[in-house]
Amino acid sequence: MSQYTARQIHLKNRPSGTPGEEDFDLVEATLEPPREGQVLVANRYMSVDPYMRGRMRENAVYAQPYQLNQPMYGGAIGEVVESQSADLRVGDIVLNQAAWQDRFVADAGSVNRIDPFDPDRLSLYLGTLGMPGLTAYVGLLKFGEPKPGETVFVSAASGAVGANVCQIAKLQGCRVIGSVGSDAKAQWLRDECGVDVAINYRDCGDLSAAVAEAAPEGIDVYFENVGGEHLQAALNAMNHFGRIAACGMIASYNDAEPTPGPSNLMLIVGKKIRIQGFIVSDHFAMREDFLRDMIPWIQAGKIISRETVVEGLDHAVEAFLGLFSGENFGKMVVKLP
Ligand SMILES: NC(=O)c1ccc[n+]([C@@H]2O[C@H](COP(=O)([O-])OP(=O)(O)OC[C@H]3O[C@@H](n4cnc5c(N)ncnc54)[C@H](OP(=O)(O)O)[C@@H]3O)[C@@H](O)[C@H]2O)c1
Repeated sequence: MSQYTARQIHLKNRPSGTPGEEDFDLVEATLEPPREGQVLVANRYMSVDPYMRGRMRENAVYAQPYQLNQPMYGGAIGEVVESQSADLRVGDIVLNQAAWQDRFVADAGSVNRIDPFDPDRLSLYLGTLGMPGLTAYVGLLKFGEPKPGETVFVSAASGAVGANVCQIAKLQGCRVIGSVGSDAKAQWLRDECGVDVAINYRDCGDLSAAVAEAAPEGIDVYFENVGGEHLQAALNAMNHFGRIAACGMIASYNDAEPTPGPSNLMLIVGKKIRIQGFIVSDHFAMREDFLRDMIPWIQAGKIISRETVVEGLDHAVEAFLGLFSGENFGKMVVKLP
């Protein structure tokens, strides 16, 4: 295989409902050698993220839709293998937005060189030290405004964002309740992440009753990752002047038709609840504060990270689809050769 051959995953159809393998194509492409100011990068890890589902729609809400029959894109971390730029050298590690392809040529200024905090844990830059970690930090601290002694409820609590939210909330002195889709995830949250109560929403019976039991003094902050029944249960248990950091609502991402919302939205009025949606890319200015806090937390063992690593671009679609059935335990990443 030539140095200038890349394997790429293209979006073939705009899926209606849950996507399937048939909506994607694995394509071999020939790259132009890098010109002056450009680099050839071999990706080492790529991220799969729930927001990518939104980009598969023609009317994506806050991001540009993916183009059909073109490579999809997103967060990845790679190594410069050829450089025609004075700014980057062969061997440099770069964060980039060229996921879903194993190699690519780009202007040196379009990738970000990092000095990895641990060269053996490069994928951390796609999880706890990357976009999902920053999402947790911004959403909880800026919009949740947790205070010591308050109760924080987190849905999708063992995932890339959720596990960081839980642990940051514990560091703020909060009582933390997490909701997850398996007993193993619940046990990990309790035993390793210090979460006070972990609910398995798949077998807890009535979720509102389980949340109420877990939060006898009510919920002050709800970190919303799931929507639907979880939002309904959170609203029922929230205290007056509670805050909801609305990060995502993954339960609805594959809906072909809109599903009815919670029936208890009037509680927002009566309980004077503040709901704030946010998109992490509007808050990159907080990245410096985030890294200043997060790196020492990781080094001190105060924040731990778990990953599900899927091997090879051939399995990247499977990894992405697995996000919607809870196949991932922690951050889902794809390792590229
Ligand atoms: N606003 C922003 O800027 C921003 C940035 C990043 C992420 N997000 C949002 O944050 C949320 C979490 O993202 P992530 O990257 O951390 O993903 P993740 O939690 O690592 O993976 C998704 C998890 O969601 C859970 N899930 C999937 N379908 C579900 C359903 N129908 N009901 C309940 N749980 C379900 C599964 O966990 P279980 O096994 O526990 O069910 C799955 O593992 C998503 O809503 C995402 O869109 C928002």
